[in-house]
Amino acid sequence: MKLITQIAEMHEFVDACRTKKETVGLVPTMGFLHQGHISLMERAIRENDKTIVTIFVNPLQFAEGEDLSSYPRDLEQDTSQCEATGVDLLFTPSPEEMYSQPILTAVHIDSMTSNMEGASRPTHFSGVATVVAKLFNIAGPCSAYFGEKDWQQLQIITKMAHDLSFRVNVYGCPTVRHSDGLALSSRNAYLTPEERTSATVLSRSLQKASETVQAGETTASAIRAQIDDQIATEPLVELDYVEIVEGNTLNSIDQISQGSRILVAAKIGKARLIDNVDPYCGIT
Ligand code: PAF
Repeated sequence: MKLITQIAEMHEFVDACRTKKETVGLVPTMGFLHQGHISLMERAIRENDKTIVTIFVNPLQFAEGEDLSSYPRDLEQDTSQCEATGVDLLFTPSPEEMYSQPILTAVHIDSMTSNMEGASRPTHFSGVATVVAKLFNIAGPCSAYFGEKDWQQLQIITKMAHDLSFRVNVYGCPTVRHSDGLALSSRNAYLTPEERTSATVLSRSLQKASETVQAGETTASAIRAQIDDQIATEPLVELDYVEIVEGNTLNSIDQISQGSRILVAAKIGKARLIDNVDPYCGIT
């Protein structure tokens, strides 16, 4: 596996791939890799001739007072995991390499960024879209893989790639979970053992909601109330939102149907965790 930090080296690598007519898979991450990231890499490796993983804790997507400085990092362990998985190139740029000061350009996506995570973190998605647009430009035509755990992010990136005509196929990959249902997240590292146990209420409430929908209750307000009530039974969990939306546009809906998505976010100790489900599939 090649390890690089410079954008020019990325260009060299992808130019060589294109000369050899090799397809490129791109897995953008912020590191502290877990099995969820590995599943993205495995799919990229299966579907492409060459796979690039990027690790960059993107300052633009953290607001003042968020966990930029404490965001978990372990480059040595991440490098071994990428190598063991069969990644061809690991790109770990510095903030200075990615952003020459002053930064005057940003990507903004309307409406889809204002609810849910966007309501709690108003500058977050512009930061995500800007860095992902840069990575798409640096990598050029490729297939890019993102986890469905960050459902709103996945829909926003998909829309951005389409709106800005990037030659990138954006693929969402299923959330990877612990055996008790908790979605894998680098931020789970912040949880104490007691908080870790309480955190399972997110996936448990989404699963129960899915069962209720499949039993015939499709009124969004009733399902939201059921999830609210279940999460309220866990005193360590401070609910931020439960939203029921049309899965691709992220517009709020009153009646649940095929294509709907239920999303939750909660603060548990130092961690802010998110999860979501297709109510007709349930937590898998
Ligand atoms: O999901 C993430 O890890 C990040 O938001 C991403 C897509 C790598 C952009 O920094």
